[in-house]
Amino acid sequence: MKRISIIGTGSYLPEKVLTNKDLEKFLDTSDEWIYTRTGIKERRIAKEDEATSDLCKVACERAMEMAGVKSHDIDLIILATITPDTHCPAGANWLEAKLKCANAVSFDITAACTGFIFALHVAYHLIKSGANRMALVVAGEIMSRVVNWKERESCILWGDGAGAVVVTDSREGAEVLSTHIHTDGENGDTLLMPGGGSKTTPISHESVDKGLHYLKMIEANKSFKVAVQRFAEACEEAVKANNLNVCDVSLIVPHQANLRIIQGMAKKLNFPMEKIYVTIEKYGNISSATVPIALDEAVRTGSIKKGDLVLLTAFGGGLTWGSSLIRW
Ligand code: UT7
Repeated sequence: MKRISIIGTGSYLPEKVLTNKDLEKFLDTSDEWIYTRTGIKERRIAKEDEATSDLCKVACERAMEMAGVKSHDIDLIILATITPDTHCPAGANWLEAKLKCANAVSFDITAACTGFIFALHVAYHLIKSGANRMALVVAGEIMSRVVNWKERESCILWGDGAGAVVVTDSREGAEVLSTHIHTDGENGDTLLMPGGGSKTTPISHESVDKGLHYLKMIEANKSFKVAVQRFAEACEEAVKANNLNVCDVSLIVPHQANLRIIQGMAKKLNFPMEKIYVTIEKYGNISSATVPIALDEAVRTGSIKKGDLVLLTAFGGGLTWGSSLIRW
């Protein structure tokens, strides 16, 4: 039986910091409201000349450096994103070219905030089946380009960044014990980007005037409750599939949409907040990239040690949710 392992992690966050205080200057909001309702203090914003593949390139290079592998070793690149450089070709293809991974096949996965876990799931099974050998599983977003900066209910939540892991079939590294993914298309209209696809004229003056290209959150407080429920279910599913209990988990690295959602999940699972890795204060919600960025930070700061049982979990637009259990 093949052992599927993560042998390197990397991330990249743009330098520019946008604080809640900065938002106060052009939005009817306050640092106090944002912090108490979401746990966010600041977020990172990409430079004007940066595309998602530029952020991902640095994250991938850092992951490859940790793994001790070179561009020509990579035969698969899966990019999770809802903000690709272009819809055609896939964002992953621009990344493949920038990384000079000439031996790799590359494609994108769209699963919003759960995208990284979807991509990990696909890479895990492709490598397990023998179809591929060495994958870059990467998630990157420039959310600052798809939010409506006049809509205070939503724009305060998001940030930019990228995270990556190198996955291969190896006795070394952190063993991916399982991955589980789910969708609920029936309720997909609560968090969406309505324009840009075949449902509307992809780009027109009319669609831009209507703001259809922006990310929309409908009844966000309803998604809040669903998120808590789905996060808890995803965690339970992961441990159960491995004949373990939630109390066996050393660290949960969850998607970070709202600190209160994470606290709600912890309460539902009866799991201590001290064993949940939280980055939302510094980075906000970076959609699919949130989980691999937090994972890389936890690895590099020593919050994850060899032997630890690490549980990744996410919930997002689509609706999508999932988990992965990893023995570090
Ligand atoms: O990534 C995974 C998917 N993400 C989610 O599913 C998001 C989940 N939802 C949430 O995180 C929260 O629902 C939000 C942070 C989006 C909103 O927090 P809330 O506690 O649910 O607030 P609310 O929408 O019920 O709004 C409460 C009040 C409203 O005013 P009234 O109607 O009570 O007078 C809003 O207009 O807060 C107002 N408000 C704001 N005030 C200051 C909304 N946004 C802001 C703002 N600054 N930025």
